[in-house]
Amino acid sequence: MATDVLTLLLQTEDEEGNRLSEAEIKVQTLLMLFAGHETTTSMLTSLMMALAQNLDVLEKARAEQQDIIQRTDDTALTLAQIQQMPYLDQVLKEVERQYPPVAGGFRKVIKSFDFNGYHVPAGWLALYRIEAAHRDERCYAEPDRFDPERFGPERAEQKRYDYSLVGFGGGPRICLGMAFAKLEMKILAAQLLRRYRWQITAGQDLSFSVIPSLRPKDGLKVIFTAY
Ligand code: HEM
Repeated sequence: MATDVLTLLLQTEDEEGNRLSEAEIKVQTLLMLFAGHETTTSMLTSLMMALAQNLDVLEKARAEQQDIIQRTDDTALTLAQIQQMPYLDQVLKEVERQYPPVAGGFRKVIKSFDFNGYHVPAGWLALYRIEAAHRDERCYAEPDRFDPERFGPERAEQKRYDYSLVGFGGGPRICLGMAFAKLEMKILAAQLLRRYRWQITAGQDLSFSVIPSLRPKDGLKVIFTAY
């Protein structure tokens, strides 16, 4: 019985008993490492940085956690609690918008089309750029501002245009691990907000490199202190 992804890939076969080739297993393993780990660590790094840089947001997110603990009279993090964190949801959306871990994706053009006065022939490779949508002023007011309120029920800026929030891609090939990644990030964020203060150490280069996934060039050094 397979207990890990690599064993599953090695054992899997189609109706005719064909298995994946060594080359296919290599690329699928690399894809899983990138898709399943690099992306989530990138977004969590950006979350830690953005909260440390925006103390008003940090305090509001922390207050939401305290409020949930009081209302539910339970200090343990439960699934029911996780479903009642609208402000943390907004913060995570804003991190996805401003710091998308993946720069974009490729699509093979299977049918020629015209767009904005340009002809795109079948057979071309098209690249969609995630950050370009997230920084488009037609979708988001003051796109350079870190502002989770833009995703609140009153403004709901992501609803103005389809596909304006595409950190996980969109359409039929949307991220397969999206729900899992969101749950994982929410659990970690809620636990850190409840138990720790943190501070970015001085003298770091916080400018970002984009490939293979978005992250500060020197990583992010943070000091955590338990409450
Ligand atoms: C914050 C975390 C994550 C982000 C931002 C993210 C982002 C993305 C994006 C943008 C795509 C679409 C690429 C394209 O358009 O071609 C994608 C696809 C995919 N993701 Fe994620 N991802 C995350 C976490 C995960 C996790 C945790 C897993 C697995 C456990 C995963 C598995 C996949 C797979 C298998 C695909 C390919 C889906 C397909 O082509 O049908 N992702 N992801």
